[in-house]
Amino acid sequence: MVSWSDQTIGEKMTTFVHSTAVRSAWHPVAESTDVGDGPLAFRLLGEDLVVWRSGSGELVVAHDRCPHREAPLSAGTVDDGKLVCAYHGWAFGDAGRCVLVPSSGEDATVPPAAHLASRWVDERYGLVWVSLEEPMTEIPTISHEDDPSFRRINSGMQQWKVSAPRMVDNFCDISHFPWVHVGTFGGGQTPRVPRIELGGLDDGWYGYAYEVDANNPDVAAATTGTDEPVVHRRMSTGFHLPLSVRSTIEYETGLHHILLLCSTPVDDEHSLFTFVVWRNDDHSADPETTIAFDRAIGAEDQRMLEQLGGTMPLGRTDLVSVQSDRCSVEWRRRFGELVTAPVAAVTGTPAS
Ligand code: FES
Ligand SMILES: [Fe+2]
Repeated sequence: MVSWSDQTIGEKMTTFVHSTAVRSAWHPVAESTDVGDGPLAFRLLGEDLVVWRSGSGELVVAHDRCPHREAPLSAGTVDDGKLVCAYHGWAFGDAGRCVLVPSSGEDATVPPAAHLASRWVDERYGLVWVSLEEPMTEIPTISHEDDPSFRRINSGMQQWKVSAPRMVDNFCDISHFPWVHVGTFGGGQTPRVPRIELGGLDDGWYGYAYEVDANNPDVAAATTGTDEPVVHRRMSTGFHLPLSVRSTIEYETGLHHILLLCSTPVDDEHSLFTFVVWRNDDHSADPETTIAFDRAIGAEDQRMLEQLGGTMPLGRTDLVSVQSDRCSVEWRRRFGELVTAPVAAVTGTPAS
């Protein structure tokens, strides 16, 4: 078994896109509504892929390259649930099976190698989740999804020029609030972070609970439900391996605001970012207005993170950490173990 080694990780393991454990995990790559009448191209862990909705309504994900002459399948069209290649019209149906080679005629046998190796795909929380190899982990649980007193608001996908581990590290960290988020909620917050006690949270998340006083500018009123200049928040922040973070906020009014923060590796140094919100408000406010403050906060993180070049060192002693970094240090330790896991323990082949 490959053992955890600072030296190994420090020297070799800043790249993670080839890690079998990461390739065997679910990553959100699009919103369900992004997959419309045609194929959608995306890139995950350095692989160019295509997704479309088949005739049965199920999503199909495959390598974005036609097995005939390597045309991008995403340049084709979807006709009656079949993806039709733009070059010679080969058609692919449920599970990526090639169902027609027009030049051979409808009665001809399709070459077995013409079938696409489809990947694992699921839809949850309004997101399309993909795993490149047989999934070894579950899509993280947000039980508020099934609670009718909560509504879900999706925010759309963005691409950030930053390595996904740097995003997760940031989302686990509250000590940057008074610095990076001075323009939104962090201006009135004391820089000193109370002692962080890590432990299991609900729904299988792992992290910590804390309380903060947050600035509540006018633009935040739709989110916080009050126009008080400062609001008290009871919060928790936790992670779910490999790259999901959940932040929960409870205001004194009883309003709960749950955030799922997703960091999807496009490659080692580019990522997709999306956040999903669940709220027990009266469901009447315009969703876009309700998440405008979260968007502004995300833009502050993006501006900071895009200045951190390269991948994130994963060795324990590669970076200097203090007690306020406990959560991100623990996430980085566990993520580093995943990335260095022996390949044999988590092998998988494309779904057929
Ligand atoms: S390259 Fe796709 S059908 Fe020929
Ligand atoms: Fe932040």
